[in-house]
Amino acid sequence: MNRHSLVSISELSKDEILHLLDVAGYFEQNPNHKILDGKVVATLFFEPSTRTRLSFETAVNRLGGRVIGFSDASTSSTSKGETLKDTIKMVSNYVDLIIMRHFLEGAARYATEVTEVPVINAGDGANQHPSQTMLDLYSIYKTQGRLDNLTITLVGDLKYGRTVHSLLMAMRYFNPTFNFVACDELAMPAEYKDFCKKNGIKYNESHEFSPEIINSSDILYMTRVQRERFTDIMEYERVKDLYTLRNSMLADARPNLRVLHPLPRVNEIDRDVDDNPMAYYFEQARNGLYARQALICRALDIDILNDKR
Ligand code: CP
Repeated sequence: MNRHSLVSISELSKDEILHLLDVAGYFEQNPNHKILDGKVVATLFFEPSTRTRLSFETAVNRLGGRVIGFSDASTSSTSKGETLKDTIKMVSNYVDLIIMRHFLEGAARYATEVTEVPVINAGDGANQHPSQTMLDLYSIYKTQGRLDNLTITLVGDLKYGRTVHSLLMAMRYFNPTFNFVACDELAMPAEYKDFCKKNGIKYNESHEFSPEIINSSDILYMTRVQRERFTDIMEYERVKDLYTLRNSMLADARPNLRVLHPLPRVNEIDRDVDDNPMAYYFEQARNGLYARQALICRALDIDILNDKR
């Protein structure tokens, strides 16, 4: 595995996370830097995406590199039966970095085992989404002025939600208190609760999205119930609309509270929240550009803060 690959957020130390946030801050002030001249980056998306793919591709373009790849695997030779291993080995002949989203948990790890080219995991099934976590951390830091000692409420699909799994792991350095709000079918998996226990992370579980929980939170992290992860469509229908945030529910929230959502949303945040200054999900998505510019620099071993080209 190339040491600059990023499969799981757990691979990053606290210092590395803080450095990446500094680099993201630098790119927010200076988004256009032609430091990838001559570099080619592949974006291989075996699962649909709007934000992750387009923000990674924008990041490469703003850094002066070139992008190849596909947004629909049915247009690649995967549809003829080519294996993931062969696809990765072929693409490795052409590029300096692979950014890959796949529907199978572990696919990104597997990709790192069959190539020496760095791989960034852009989401593997219900497992991990580390670049989302870097933009989430950047968004939390920007809105709260700190990462330490925050109360973060995760709502919705905590079972299949790779963004909440990655965020939970990254926050181990920052003494958070988590509220997990979900129905039994979508509860936070035992392995992540064990992770909390091992790392001294405080958490509470609730079926109710209560005023007490909302009003004691610094961050409300809403998630979509992901239809594509269910094998039983009737179960999806039963749970899909259990938790919806409405504007009136924020009336007594802490002034510093911000509503995050990795997006896309369906019904879990009512449109009447969008004009509330606490709604931060569209800015959060914009932060993805800067966080991903920072991750691309890490993957290609470019230290932009000490080498301002
Ligand atoms: N947040 C996120 O991963 O969005 P996309 O699926 O649109 O990339």
